[in-house]
Amino acid sequence: MKLENFYKKAVAVGIARDPRGPEAVQRILDEERARSGKLTDDERAVWEPDRLFNPYADTRLLAGDPATEVRTLIVGIDMDAAEVVLAHTLNRDRGAGIDLVVSHHPQGVALAQLAEVMRVQSDMLVAHGVNIAVAEQLLDKRISEVERRVLPANHNRAVDAARLLGLPMMCLHTPADNCVNTHLAGLFEKDKPSRLKDLVDLLKGISEYRAAAGRMAGPKIVNGSENAHCGRVSVEMTGGTEGAKTIYESYAVSGVSTIVSMHISEEALENAKKAHLNVVLAGHISSDTLGLNLLFDELEREERLEFVGVSGFARTRAADR
Ligand SMILES: [Fe+2]
Repeated sequence: MKLENFYKKAVAVGIARDPRGPEAVQRILDEERARSGKLTDDERAVWEPDRLFNPYADTRLLAGDPATEVRTLIVGIDMDAAEVVLAHTLNRDRGAGIDLVVSHHPQGVALAQLAEVMRVQSDMLVAHGVNIAVAEQLLDKRISEVERRVLPANHNRAVDAARLLGLPMMCLHTPADNCVNTHLAGLFEKDKPSRLKDLVDLLKGISEYRAAAGRMAGPKIVNGSENAHCGRVSVEMTGGTEGAKTIYESYAVSGVSTIVSMHISEEALENAKKAHLNVVLAGHISSDTLGLNLLFDELEREERLEFVGVSGFARTRAADR
């Protein structure tokens, strides 16, 4: 598969699984197209043409010729310079034939823009009945925090290594997170777990979470008891990174009882406890792995690819899940 095709298909799957729905995402792309016609010279100098088809600023081709044919991918949750050198070593010493490095967490220009994809979170909150003004204002504050946090990072460290070694590299973040978010929300909607222990059992029925449990990193209830009722469940697995730490009171008022997330900061957990919400951590690396696997299932419908799993990722196909 051509690298450019692989990238565009991954974005298309992300849009199809976007919690806002494909029509809402299309409106965002249309707005971007309209904006692109009115850019000043300074703005145009740093504007990325990807924005016309890719609404996810945390997902980009980072190195390599888009026309490269790719078949064997090394995929990891975090791919830094060490993993890029590992890919090179596997090719040189073991004949691994790796022709693309895929990182889940953003690198390079995609890391620098991570905060942009957080906007989806306000739509997800509104879908659960949270007042839109509250959702947007709390999120604006959090987006500024995340912008300031990623701004000083050494964004291009791994990308520079890939470029020097002649290895194509890309990152796939929100498209994969959309896949796991939509998958789990659909699962809870269909199976309607009654109590938290039932919800955790549902998660453990998925191979990625079972494998994590075997590594002592399985799903865990961090607030609420096993026998507590789930009530209305909100899955918080997409939108770049953790959202507003003070949203939980509004969640409780809107009727949500249980949050299922990949991770939660201490401050956010304390606020969730004050709001008397149940919180289940499904697992970070396991949820990221499930999201990537669901995405790759779609990409492999046309053409089977070869995967080298590293940095927490292991390829599991739908039939084995
Ligand atoms: Fe992650």
